[in-house]
Amino acid sequence: MYERNVSHIEALVQEQNEWRGRCVNLIASENVTSRRVRGVMGSDFAHRYAEGHPGERYYQGTEIIDEIEGLLKQHMKGLFRCRHADVRPISGTIANDAVFSRYIRPGDVVMVNSTPGGGHISHHRVGAVGKYTKNIVNFPVTPDGYHIDVDHTMELLKALEPKVMILGKSLFLFPEPVKELAPVCKRRGIALIYDAAHVLGLVAGHQFQDPLAEGAPLVTGSTHKTFFGSQRGVILSNVDDDEWRKIDKGAFPGSSSNHHLETLVALSVSTYEMLEFGVEYARQVVANAKHLARRLHDLGFKVEGAEFGFTESHQVAVDVSDLGGGDAAARTLKDNGIIVNMNLLPFEPLDHVTNPAGLRLGTQEMTRVGMKEPEMEAIAGFFGKVLLGKKFVGDEVKEFRSKFQDVQYSFDA
Ligand SMILES: Cc1ncc(COP(=O)(O)O)c(C=O)c1O
Repeated sequence: MYERNVSHIEALVQEQNEWRGRCVNLIASENVTSRRVRGVMGSDFAHRYAEGHPGERYYQGTEIIDEIEGLLKQHMKGLFRCRHADVRPISGTIANDAVFSRYIRPGDVVMVNSTPGGGHISHHRVGAVGKYTKNIVNFPVTPDGYHIDVDHTMELLKALEPKVMILGKSLFLFPEPVKELAPVCKRRGIALIYDAAHVLGLVAGHQFQDPLAEGAPLVTGSTHKTFFGSQRGVILSNVDDDEWRKIDKGAFPGSSSNHHLETLVALSVSTYEMLEFGVEYARQVVANAKHLARRLHDLGFKVEGAEFGFTESHQVAVDVSDLGGGDAAARTLKDNGIIVNMNLLPFEPLDHVTNPAGLRLGTQEMTRVGMKEPEMEAIAGFFGKVLLGKKFVGDEVKEFRSKFQDVQYSFDA
């Protein structure tokens, strides 16, 4: 009776695959997995459980996943040059919650990046931090809005006595002041957590600050934005073994039970891709972002961060308030086959959230399918035609994208 409905869902999946394969995808939090990574999904692991750690599980039948998970942990520690890695969180938010639950007590003051300043919802009152305390204070920022004001933060520290500081954000153009804040956090017993969800692949490829080397003891991340997927989370740390045991309990049983072995296996494959191609990939991602920003600026767009070279990451932020705002601009681009998200910009009131001033663009996915500087130039040109010239370029976009179908920086070839 329901078979027709199943066919309908299958057709929708097929439609999505074909549609997004024709689009220029610039959502900064997404990426595509290689054929080899997709090839290990849908295996028997999609049906199994493996609670606990390799060699110390609660169920029988886990020998093979034990080997895979053990290798993945070893490779994560190698990539990020750290003492501990927990690969069980099933997303970046779950990784955050696992750590926040261990460090934040009711009433504690926690310092975070504001929402318009780029902070992620899990750092806020309605998200994971808000489950543990309501005393959430935004970092002061410099007038450009994209950098934490370190001197002012130092003054606030004395007055507010925070227990936790969360660096890292979702609108993330420039590095955070880890080197400046880590020593004072250590002296004052403040847990310094760096959320690397967006920049994990750039850190792995040595093209963004290395928060662990700069002194952040705790790093969380998503594995599917600038990292090569699948969609999961990770916790990385240099704390001592006793402290790590606390975090371990936060990951399991604190924030998950089964940890989705199918995507874990996929991540273990993509981590080899990162080990082999991560440096080359991350270098091109950042070069592409800088190039896209520069070209958009040259065309007359208000690209954020101009006085600092626009960006040091995979992201570009554009103020489109003069062009009808982020919502209208993102919809128009989508109608032309270019997928982006609207974004609050620094200092905007929160009630602008449904039509903020900004667009956030990310170059990581289009870099993964082989685009370089000339293609960034072409993409900037499409933006100009669509948003400034009010032209339809949907067919041109489709034709342009059709030449970039294979995932690069992988063992697919
Ligand atoms: C800074 C930051 N932290 C955490 C997350 C959450 O990651 P996930 O979607 O993997 O739960 C995001 C997602 O966009 C993010 O931008």
